[in-house]
Amino acid sequence: MSTFSQSANYHQDSLQARLEIDYLLDAQAIEKDDQQDVINGLNKANKSLPARYFYDSKGSQLFEDICQLPEYYPTRTEASILEQYAPKIVQQTQVNELVELGSGSSLKTRYLLDADQGLNAPLYYVPVDVSGGILQESANNLLADYPQLKIQGKVATYSQALRQLSGRFLGRRIIVFLGSSIGNFNPRECDRFIDRVTSALNPGDYFLLGIDLQKPVEILTAAYNDSQGVTAAFNLNMLQHLNHRFAGNFNLDLFKHQAIYNQTEHQIEMYLISQQAQTVTLASLDLTIELQPGERILTEISRKFNLAKMENYLSDRNLNLIQTYTDSQQWFGLLLCQF
Ligand code: AVJ
Repeated sequence: MSTFSQSANYHQDSLQARLEIDYLLDAQAIEKDDQQDVINGLNKANKSLPARYFYDSKGSQLFEDICQLPEYYPTRTEASILEQYAPKIVQQTQVNELVELGSGSSLKTRYLLDADQGLNAPLYYVPVDVSGGILQESANNLLADYPQLKIQGKVATYSQALRQLSGRFLGRRIIVFLGSSIGNFNPRECDRFIDRVTSALNPGDYFLLGIDLQKPVEILTAAYNDSQGVTAAFNLNMLQHLNHRFAGNFNLDLFKHQAIYNQTEHQIEMYLISQQAQTVTLASLDLTIELQPGERILTEISRKFNLAKMENYLSDRNLNLIQTYTDSQQWFGLLLCQF
């Protein structure tokens, strides 16, 4: 450390003293699971890829850009609900540990942290994200802005993090899952996810869930087919990520983005459509696939929920509804539950 930069480093160090980051992603068994998901998905008759592969550092950045798009209403609607009700939520829960699954930029979380600042219990923030770069950056920003905050981040999948958290409690806990990311899970995955969430809660702990609600189809399809093509870039970037991660040779120019609303399933479905017959290899997975012209790879479902149904679903799983918060158009819901 050179002398003249000592004070800057000293400042850094005092921030770092409030920061711990656990890296769980590289564990070999998990890496195997991840790989198997890709292999299974691409070998199916109807090809699919796990939506979590969107979020390398480029993809996480593109998602942040999506959140700013005029057509993409969920982020700003949820933020406005949080802005209005965070003080109430914080008063009602009085936690000392806030776990956030898929924390990303942690921007919306700031409403909760702001509201918590008046209270005297020290707060541990436990952001969980698969993108280590984004997690570190946002943790550093938060440490600088919230002098009382301690951060114990986890670069991990949700299930890795929840498994680890189920054995370790720092006190009254709230698990926060915003942005309607739960909409990425099909019903079976959703059940399994909620089981894992409740395993990581003690009786009396809380769960705060953000869900995107059913609404006119034009609004939904516009949100996933933005005029600037950011969502298309986000979708295509998954192939780049796979190329990088598994020594692949996907040619991004040979695929097109598609997002449609499936009215029967109440979900947006995003696909990458092969523009010609082609062969793609992911060398480190020992996987070669053939794609027909027009053949689609499903990269994401984004379910749109019915508020009453979701409330019942959670109650049936011992997540007792304390309060539902929503916006004036009922476009988005924020459900506070107690285990
Ligand atoms: C982060 C899963 C909630 O489904 O709206 C945004 C991801 N995909 N645009 C969503 C996404 C395309 C987003 N979630």
